[in-house]
This record gives sequence, structure tokens and C-alpha cells, in this order.
Amino acid sequence: MGEETVVIRLLPPGAIELLDQTLLPGEERYLRLGTVAAICEAIRELRVRGAPLLGLTGAAAMAVAANERGVSEDALRSAAEELRGTRPTAVDLGAAIDSALGVALALALPRAERPRALWENARRYEANRLAEDRAMGAAGAAVLPPGAALTHCNTGTLATGGIGSALGVIRTAWELGRLSHCFATETRPLWQGARLTMWELKRLGIPATLLPDTAAASLLASGQVQAVITGADRIAANGDSANKIGTYGLALMAAHHGLPFYIAAPVTTIDHACADGAHIPIEFRAASEVGGFARQSWTPEGMGAYNPAFDVTPAELITGIITERGVLRPPYGASISALERISGT
Ligand code: MRU
Repeated sequence: MGEETVVIRLLPPGAIELLDQTLLPGEERYLRLGTVAAICEAIRELRVRGAPLLGLTGAAAMAVAANERGVSEDALRSAAEELRGTRPTAVDLGAAIDSALGVALALALPRAERPRALWENARRYEANRLAEDRAMGAAGAAVLPPGAALTHCNTGTLATGGIGSALGVIRTAWELGRLSHCFATETRPLWQGARLTMWELKRLGIPATLLPDTAAASLLASGQVQAVITGADRIAANGDSANKIGTYGLALMAAHHGLPFYIAAPVTTIDHACADGAHIPIEFRAASEVGGFARQSWTPEGMGAYNPAFDVTPAELITGIITERGVLRPPYGASISALERISGT
């Protein structure tokens, strides 16, 4: 098995370290961040990214906020608002911040204990991430058909802090001898597939092939892929799922070719308060990301671009939603509310 990657380090009483994902695969550099503003910048710029890892970062950022700004309710609530506003689609970020607020502001907790409670909360979140990913990996590997899989964006350690969601399933299936090959889309415009997923697959020693996003339909038509699997940033109560832009197209292509399309995500990614995909907030990003990358520009200056960071895949295109509590099947309204009743999530 390849090397494990450390993506975040919690450094009480007042800092975190993040692997700067904008520099990968060229450079592995850790950033030490001790202010809410610096963490917000890192989230906005995708130095740290991926829904579950954003959740962990949000939980830890609240502990950093207590050290930087003090433990008054006002200080913690305003830090929470700043952090929450950085990226709107990934539900884990806001949910983790709310849960940290709940821990810090619990009536029974003396004010002086708030920083300790916030760091303990972040540590618990970190430990859960790994356990959840392993359970998701096992559940997913059991249902993924043997052969090759196509994945999109980056859903590995770099996106969760554990072994990954969709990539965790791929990794587990490979370890069990069920997966022969992984195809990864480059994932324009920020190249999470080309830069990050290929980097992880190489380190894990999993045979992998990169393709332009535009080659996905032809790859599926060629018969070389047995399943498509991606992560999710927010899953609505009816199963509609937001994930990296391009996911919806892949789900349509999989349906056309009679291939299973799976989503892998921890139950924290399910937003029970969101009725359907039409209510999922979609983040739009700068035109400059489409017209260039890393200070290079390849389109005339001043032109606009349509740049949604995510799209919504309708529930009817999803074969199964792989979670750490098992694989949810359609109709998702029923399977998701059963999960909510059992676990209170
Ligand atoms: O914009 P990003 O890179 O944060 O988008 C990430 C994704 O879309 C992932 O597929 C999603 O967060 C699931 S990660 C386990």
C-alpha cells in the first residue's frame, strides 16, 4: 500500500496546518494558519477542499477562532458566519460549524472550558472521518461490479481526511482484488482529477488512466468501464445530489450505456432540511478560472464565463448512495428518511 497523506494537522491552542492543494502535484507544502481570515482564504481558494474535509476544517477553525477572538458568544457566532460564507454548496462545512457552536455554547459548559471543548470536538470529528471512510469503503466495494470504474473530481484523502469517499471505495475494491483499473476525469476548470486524484492513485499504486472530461462518453461507449462512482457535496432529502460540475453529465451517460452510477458520501452530506435538488445552493466561481489557470490565461481578457462549481444529479439517475451505514437504494425519499429515523442524523 502506498504512503498515507496527512492533509490537516490540528495544533491546539491556536492553529491548524493544511496541505496546500493548489500546489499539488508539483509541491507538497503545509500552511500554518492561526486566524479565521487565513482559514477563510484557504477554503475560498481551494487550498483545502472536498465536502468532508471542509467539515473537519470548519470544526477546527472554530477552535482557532476561540483562541484568536475570544470565547464570547458574539465572537464565536461572527467567526461561524464568516466561515460558513466561504463555500455554500458543501453541507458538511456549515453543519460542522453549527455543531461546534452547539458544543461551545452548551449551557452546562463553563466559558473557560470552551476552547478545550472545541479542540476535543475537532479531534472527534477527525477520528470519525477515518472510521466513516473505512466503513463506506467496505460497503461500496461490496456493490461495485468487478472490473474498471470511472470517477470524477477528487474524493480521496485530500477531500475527506480519511481514505476518501468514492476514491475510498475504489481503493478498498482494489485492495480486495475487485477493481482492475481506475479511470479519472481531469475535472476542469480546476483540474482536481488530473492534479489530485491521479496523484493519490499513483501513491496508492492503483493502475489509472486520465481522460479529458470530454472523452467520458466515448470511454463508456467503448465498454472498458463497469461503473461510474463519484462523491457528493450535498444530498437532498429526495436523493438529488450536488457534486462537482460534470457529475450530472456522467450520470446521464452511465444511464444511456446501462452502467451503474454510484455516489459515495458520509451521512453528514445528507441535508434532511433540503427537500430536493432545486433547493441546493450552487456556488458560482470566477470567470478567470475557466479562461486560465495558475497565472496563465488562454482567453481574451474581459470575456465572461459560465462557471458553476457544482451540478445536481437527479435521484432517478443514481443506482445507490454508499454511506458508512450501508448503501441507500431508491426510492431515496424513503431510504433517507428511514436513515434519519434510525440514527437521528
Ligand atoms: O470544489 P471542490 O474541489 O471542493 O469539489 C469537491 C467535490 O465535488 C467532491 O466530489 C465532493 O466534495 C465529495 S468529496 C468526498
